[in-house]
Amino acid sequence: MSINYDFITAAPVVPVLVIDDLDTAIPMAEALVAGGLPALEITLRTDCALDAIERIAKAVPNAIVGAGTVCNGDQLRACRDRGAQFIVSPGSSQSIFDAAKETALPLLPGVSSASEMIAAMDAGYEILKFFPAEANGGAKALKAYSGPFPHVKFCPTGGISPNNLKDYLSLPAVIAVGGSWITPKHAIQSRNWDAIRQLAAEAVVLASD
Ligand code: 3PG
Repeated sequence: MSINYDFITAAPVVPVLVIDDLDTAIPMAEALVAGGLPALEITLRTDCALDAIERIAKAVPNAIVGAGTVCNGDQLRACRDRGAQFIVSPGSSQSIFDAAKETALPLLPGVSSASEMIAAMDAGYEILKFFPAEANGGAKALKAYSGPFPHVKFCPTGGISPNNLKDYLSLPAVIAVGGSWITPKHAIQSRNWDAIRQLAAEAVVLASD
């Protein structure tokens, strides 16, 4: 069975969302999609994350909703049950690999070392999340990893902002970047969805410059 990775090429930036209030899930997703960023990573860091995934999957037709901070196979299956279309994990384990294969969901396994990259490649993955990107040497480190691993593509996240976005996206190995800067807490708290739409649109322009 071939697994569909179109979510990662849908836009150059994948917003990483921490949803504390379920009522913000739909308007936030709509704002991001309207700004040009349809692939959304909802992190399992809050009590309402699974409900948020389900709501967005049902109510925002142009969103490609995925789950992030998935740390074991049971969480991965729960995300599938709520409608997640892709899975992002900060690291990897056999239970995550097994559940991803069982559900046929595309997985971006998190890696931050050559050994983790080899383990992920052994499990059949060639598109990896480099995390936390800035703390692990940033674009310079990623460029170095492309020497021994020329076929691997990366979606770096962790510490990425408009200031360093281009450093990553200019590397041939980088397929997209992830980050939370597009959904700042103050904009969510003040329900300023237009500000979030604008940040998404600015990220799209910056990425294509
Ligand atoms: C992630 O889970 O990918 C990161 O927490 C996102 O990192 P950022 O908040 O530094 O963008």
